[in-house]
Amino acid sequence: MPSVMPIFGTRPEAIKMAPIVSAFQESADFDCIVTVTGQHREMLDQVNELFGIEPDHDLNILQPRQSLSAIMTRTIDGLDKLFAEKKPDAVIVQGDTTTSTAGAIAAFYHGIPVVHVEAGLRSGDLFSPFPEEANRKITSQIASLHLAPTSTSKANLLAEGIAEEDIVVTGNSVIDALLTTVDKEIPFSDPQLEDLAASGRRILLVTTHRRENQGDAMRGVGRALARIAEAEPDLVIVLPAHKNPVVREAVLPALEGKENVVVTEPLAYGEFTRMLSMAHIVLTDSGGVQEEAPSLGKPVLVMRDNTERPEAVHAGTVALIGTDEETIVKQVDRLLNQQDAFDAMANAVNPYGDGKAAERTVAAVAELLGVGTRLREFGNTLIAT
Ligand code: UD1
Ligand code: UDP
Repeated sequence: MPSVMPIFGTRPEAIKMAPIVSAFQESADFDCIVTVTGQHREMLDQVNELFGIEPDHDLNILQPRQSLSAIMTRTIDGLDKLFAEKKPDAVIVQGDTTTSTAGAIAAFYHGIPVVHVEAGLRSGDLFSPFPEEANRKITSQIASLHLAPTSTSKANLLAEGIAEEDIVVTGNSVIDALLTTVDKEIPFSDPQLEDLAASGRRILLVTTHRRENQGDAMRGVGRALARIAEAEPDLVIVLPAHKNPVVREAVLPALEGKENVVVTEPLAYGEFTRMLSMAHIVLTDSGGVQEEAPSLGKPVLVMRDNTERPEAVHAGTVALIGTDEETIVKQVDRLLNQQDAFDAMANAVNPYGDGKAAERTVAAVAELLGVGTRLREFGNTLIAT
């Protein structure tokens, strides 16, 4: 029986890998060896616990305020030994984190085929997001099988010379994950959030963490949120703070003492998706949130100048607004106070998946390893980028 080794290390990889791990574990055709790097610790464990994933191997690489080079070298070093011992028939990496690219490089060095989940996303700017755009391009160069979430991401790969027979459009497994939680009213562990749910007050849900936004831009985000909170006393701003101390040091000081700002620890995935469905507007620089919120019909203001996820921008549910303090204040005010502007963005669209990405992934890997055939691709509209 062929063995596959999914490797992941951060919160978004864990969320998007969870349905795929479950599908491999349920399949009688594979031995599935789950390996985590521990690039994130609390935020990774929180997801694995929710989805009942017990890693077989944990490299436990996290260091406080870790450098990109440390993540890369510690991952490659740990995997080098593991691959020599376990000899998996294929390695599966997800997305564009440094865990993901380090996993791909280590596997490539061992001659192990790399399966890249969420392949083909491109912003077109090597430095934004940093280092993710470079990470995913590197992985594309060495992967054997490219699982593109959308037709647009497939087109990006074809334009870079990747052979069509090595690409399968699966949809994004984040939608598989979302569908496991979204209809359940998962209780909030923080009583403030249960009170908020009962109050029916309008919520601005905010997440921020991008490396290129850290520092001045993120301090500006904090000031913008403080101004919005003052101008809109009936609104509640909910900010589940990323564990990164650099993020917290930049955003949180401006929010101290604001009665209508609720700062929480990272929410467990089911709690976060419930909060997403309660939110009136979402303000974020996250990749995954850009994919989930549109399927719940939530207007998303993205604090970036570009995106590798043009599909929901094209559908009108996501707008790129950058990180300028004044612009954030104005754009949120517009959505809060101009009904036509809000209505134009509040459309439920599903360009990123249909909940069957994990099934298509397993079938595509089965074909790669000679134990099955790929399934019909996820169909969506090609967006010109
Ligand atoms: C990483 C990914 C990014 C992804 C993001 C998702 C890279 C280069 N970046 O960025 O692509 O969008 O995860 O959140 O791979 N920390 C903890 N506990 C945790 C998580 C983080 O203490 O559970 C702290 C540590 O001090 C750590 C810092 O946060 O050094 C930053 O974590 P790191 O993984 O380096 O970068 P992220 O910004 O989280
Ligand atoms: N998320 C979560 N709890 C939170 C904030 C986000 O579970 O408090 C989920 C969210 O639903 C999405 C993922 O984390 O699936 C996004 O992770 P993040 O923004 O850290 O990374 P990115 O997607 O930008 O790489």
